Amino acid sequence: MTPSANQQLDIDLGPTGRPMPEFPDPVALDSHGPARIISMVNQKGGVGKTTSVINLGAALAELGRRVLLVDLDPQAALSAGNGVNPYDLDVTVYNLLMDSRGHDVREVIQQTTTENLDVLPANIDLSAAEVQLVNEVAREMALARVLRPVADEYDVIIIDCQPSLGLLTVNALAASHGVIIPLEAEYFALRGVALLVETIEKVQDRINPRLEIDGILITMFDPRTLHAREVCQRVVEAFPDKVFHTTINRTVKFPDASVAAEPIISYASSTKGADAYRQLARELISRGGAA
Ligand SMILES: Nc1ncnc2c1ncn2[C@@H]1O[C@H](COP(=O)(O)OP(=O)(O)OP(=O)(O)O)[C@@H](O)[C@H]1O
Ligand SMILES: [Mg+2]
Repeated sequence: MTPSANQQLDIDLGPTGRPMPEFPDPVALDSHGPARIISMVNQKGGVGKTTSVINLGAALAELGRRVLLVDLDPQAALSAGNGVNPYDLDVTVYNLLMDSRGHDVREVIQQTTTENLDVLPANIDLSAAEVQLVNEVAREMALARVLRPVADEYDVIIIDCQPSLGLLTVNALAASHGVIIPLEAEYFALRGVALLVETIEKVQDRINPRLEIDGILITMFDPRTLHAREVCQRVVEAFPDKVFHTTINRTVKFPDASVAAEPIISYASSTKGADAYRQLARELISRGGAA
């Protein structure tokens, strides 16, 4: 096999097969807000959306950014993953969506044990919202309305979506500046992405022209297998400018951290998994995807 030009020049190729840029530590912020709002979306289940919201959020918080995580999944894994017991809550994002005047979003937001990191929790009540919102005026804008009063108090708001392209996810896209699409490094990873991109384009055209795809994040990557590297290559070929250089490797530390109800950033702070999300935070900031 003839070595590629990059190999001959001895350039460090990252896991996505492209030269790996440096992502320097961003400058400290001396004031906060207005927030850039990002939705973590993939209608495929179990691709690492919630894990990425929690740990990207914690990594941005570690960089001194004020971060709000929004749980928009009735399964409430994001809330639980930050130590909030969803069953103890009387008022959640559901009540705000259905009646934003009757509740104060600040009273529903909870602080987490991580400094600078707050959560707007959900619980199973949210499963009714999809059907109930259908009859509301401006039904796609309910979440944007909920977030408006606090958007100036945070630097980044990240929304954890459920694995569907239904009305709740459309609400997330309508409220957002950016979308991050996590993709599991598996065969068929790209299946369904065309439909997702179509949905994003419809929201851009009809509701929210500022919406952009911030990036595609390859998750559960096993760099030792040819298969995972091939999948990675195919995703880069399909979306040359969109794939983050940072990839998230498969490691059991992530399920462990979910059980501990903490971000891996604090639960296993010095692991490669924690460092990968720290690098993703720096890459996102260097791309202009966060302050
Ligand atoms: N990089 C990783 N390595 C190993 N396991 C992971 C990794 N990322 C996430 N997981 C585990 O995979 C499972 C699914 O992850 P996660 O809940 O983040 O996906 P999701 O896309 O939010 O799923 P859903 O669509 O059901 O909401 C969880 O048990 C999580 O702990
Ligand atoms: Mg999830």
